[in-house]
Amino acid sequence: MQAYLEAKHTVDDRALNRRVLDEFEAALTARDGPVSVVELGAGVGTMLVRLAAWDCFPARVSYRLVDHDEENIARARDLVPDQLEDAGYSVHWRDDHDAESPTLVATREFTGDDGRAQNERPRLLEYTGPATTTTTTTTITVTFTISDAFEIEEQADAVIAAAFLDLVDLPTALESLESVLDPDGVLYAPITFDGGTGFVPTDPLDRDIERCYHHHMDEIRDGGSSRAGRELLAILRQRDWETLAAGGSDWVVRPACADNTGDDETVNPGDTHDSASERLVLEYVLHTIDDALTEIPAATTPFSTVEQQQWLDRRQAALESGTLEFVAHNLDVLARRESVVNGQS
Ligand SMILES: C[S@@+](CC[C@H](N)C(=O)[O-])C[C@H]1O[C@@H](n2cnc3c(N)ncnc32)[C@H](O)[C@@H]1O
Repeated sequence: MQAYLEAKHTVDDRALNRRVLDEFEAALTARDGPVSVVELGAGVGTMLVRLAAWDCFPARVSYRLVDHDEENIARARDLVPDQLEDAGYSVHWRDDHDAESPTLVATREFTGDDGRAQNERPRLLEYTGPATTTTTTTTITVTFTISDAFEIEEQADAVIAAAFLDLVDLPTALESLESVLDPDGVLYAPITFDGGTGFVPTDPLDRDIERCYHHHMDEIRDGGSSRAGRELLAILRQRDWETLAAGGSDWVVRPACADNTGDDETVNPGDTHDSASERLVLEYVLHTIDDALTEIPAATTPFSTVEQQQWLDRRQAALESGTLEFVAHNLDVLARRESVVNGQS
């Protein structure tokens, strides 16, 4: 699981909807003073590292990574300090005696044109006028929490739920988010799965496999939905939230594509590609689909277990020969409660 979460970092980098991310960054930086962020289902901490490396944070941020999987949080504790250092931050651990575990403090100071960082994510519209030189400092304090996402009692300015809301019961999740978010706080829910699973090259059994895989998400798996992205948009409206931005963030996983590790400075940080990681992601996806199909009673599937195994064999052979590619449809959503926006809360 941890290796998969690390491997999908660059797949997510490429997929994230930049317009929704820009709006999220604007919402964070518009707030006065330090900003508190809680990330639910944070995995190994890749979103925190990405937001820090891409300069999406205001000057002072407290960031709580929450995951119920102890091993994910242990891996996040190992990875995040090194990855923040790679992004130019100085890091140290601070032992707060009343805290559940040490806090990581990461600081980055940089001087540049208009105070913009070297490795900053490119904007849709770049300012090209005369540059002024400024120095800015960003300080992020990070806490690592092993907990069920819906048992968090802390208040936050922003909640991030990346590749998470498709795994849980949405009404329960929204109810919990409403108690965690401060007035005017925002929910950023990128990479929310929204009902599309496809492979290249196509296979005659794909359509039935996809239908059964999504049926497993909807009816057999404990929590979650195969159409969570659009269901999230619907439930936000029902519960009086305002959707500030929404857009597609489809995954396109291509192990055979040429490596582009970002060592070359002309490569945008969000465009990196590593064949070994893409391959690992595909292996995990095939394994997940196979496990899901195995849990569906054989009598109810339109294919036999032999045909299912043959489909998997063909997919694994394509992976071995470097011809397999994968596409998944996701949505990125940024929202806050409408009643708060209109001052009626
Ligand atoms: C698909 S992974 C996404 C991880 C991370 N957000 C990312 O995009 O890399 C979903 C994560 O949610 C965590 N998770 C699932 N249900 C949870 C719950 N009820 N409370 C806390 N974490 C949960 C899993 O352990 C896993 O790390």
